Amino acid sequence: MAKLSVFLFVLSFSTIVNAGPGSHSLWAVATYIIGETPFPEFTVVLMLDEVQVGYYDSNNKQSIYRGLNPTDKIYDDLAQEGDDVFGEIYYDMKERSVQLKHHLNLTEGIQVQQRMAGCEMLDIGEPAMIMFKDNFNAIYTDQMVYYNMTHFKYDAGKLLPGWDGMMQAYKRRLYENDLLPRCIKTLTTFLKKENNIVMRKVPPRLRLIKKEVSGGLQVSCLAFGFYPRHINLTLLRDGQPVAEQELAGGEVLPSGDGTYQLRKSLEVSTEELKKRHNYTCTASHLSLDNKLDVSWESGAERVHLSTLSALFLFNLYLTRQVS
Ligand SMILES: *[C@@H]1O[C@H](CO)[C@@H](O)[C@H](O)[C@H]1NC(C)=O
Ligand SMILES: *[C@@H]1O[C@H](CO)[C@@H](O)[C@H](O)[C@H]1NC(C)=O
Ligand SMILES: *[C@@H]1O[C@H](CO)[C@@H](O)[C@H](O)[C@H]1NC(C)=O
Ligand SMILES: *[C@@H]1O[C@H](CO)[C@@H](O)[C@H](O)[C@H]1NC(C)=O
Repeated sequence: MAKLSVFLFVLSFSTIVNAGPGSHSLWAVATYIIGETPFPEFTVVLMLDEVQVGYYDSNNKQSIYRGLNPTDKIYDDLAQEGDDVFGEIYYDMKERSVQLKHHLNLTEGIQVQQRMAGCEMLDIGEPAMIMFKDNFNAIYTDQMVYYNMTHFKYDAGKLLPGWDGMMQAYKRRLYENDLLPRCIKTLTTFLKKENNIVMRKVPPRLRLIKKEVSGGLQVSCLAFGFYPRHINLTLLRDGQPVAEQELAGGEVLPSGDGTYQLRKSLEVSTEELKKRHNYTCTASHLSLDNKLDVSWESGAERVHLSTLSALFLFNLYLTRQVS
C-alpha cells in the first residue's frame, strides 16, 4: 500500500514539476504512517531525475544509495548529509502527526502523511527552485513551501494552523541561505556520481497499434523504452499533424525500469476508415539524429478484405453451379 501511494504521489507530482531538457532535480518522497502496519513508521525514497537513487527508513536510520544497478552503496560524503536531512524530516513529520491526530481527533486507524521535498536546477550548479509539499491520506493537500530565487510562497493548507509572518520571514531566509544551496550542492554531487545513469540516452521504440472499438478503430502511437523523458511524439494524417485535442493520452509515464513511455490515441470512425488515409507516428528524441516514424494506410486493407469476400462469394457461386 505504501509503495503504491508513493508511486501515485510521484506521478501526481511529476505533472507539477516542469523541468526542461537541461535541468535536473532531486526529490525525497517521505511517508509517515500513523498506526500499526508491517511497514516502518517512516520511509524515504530519494529520486534523482525520477530515477530512484536512495532509501532511508526509521528502522535503520541510515541512508542507502543505489543507482539502477542492484549493488547498494553507501557514499560517505553523502550519507551524513542524508542521515541529517532525513532525520530532520522524520522528526518534523512525527511532530506534525501528533498535531494532526489531536486536531482532527484521530483516535484509531491508519493515517498516511506524505511529503515531497527537493530542488531543481537549470544547468549544472545553477539553482532554480526548492520546495516541499505535504499530503494527508492521499486526498488532502496540506502545507506547501516554494522558493525560486525571487519568490517565496507559503500555503498553510487547511488541516492545521500555519506559520505567522515572523516565522515565514525566518523560513524564507532559511530556504534562501541554507536549504537551497545545500540541496543544489547535493544534487550536483549526485549527478557526478550517477553520471552514467542520468546522462544516458536510450532511444525510443515506436509502434502504431490498431484496436477495434465501438464505432471504429483506435489508432495509438506508442513510444517506449526511452530516456530521458523529454520526447516529441506526433501523429500525422496524410502528412499533417493531428490536433492535440483530437488525441487521447499524452502523459509521459515511468515504465519502472528507468525508462519512459508515452501513448497518444486517435479514434477513427468506420466511415473514415473506408477512406484512404496515411497515418504516421513520428518521434524525435535527444538520442536520435533523425526522426523515427511508422506509417499505416487506412482504406487499403478494406479494399483487400472486400476483394477477399468477393472471391469467396464467387467461389461459393461456382461450387453451387457445379453441384
Ligand atoms: C473525538 O472522538 C471521540 C471518540 O470517537 C469522541 O467521543 C469525542 O467527542 C471526539 N472529540 C471531538 C472534539 O470531536
Ligand atoms: C519565480 O516564481 C514566480 C512566481 O511563480 C515567477 O513569476 C518568477 O518568474 C520565478 N522566477 C524565477 C527566477 O524562476
Ligand atoms: C505516409 O506518410 C509518410 C510521412 O508523411 C511517408 O513517409 C510514407 O511514405 C507514406 N506512406 C504511404 C504508403 O503513402
Ligand atoms: C521538441 O520540439 C521542440 C519544438 O519544436 C524543440 O525545441 C525540442 O528540442 C524538441 N525536443 C526533442 C527531444 O526533440
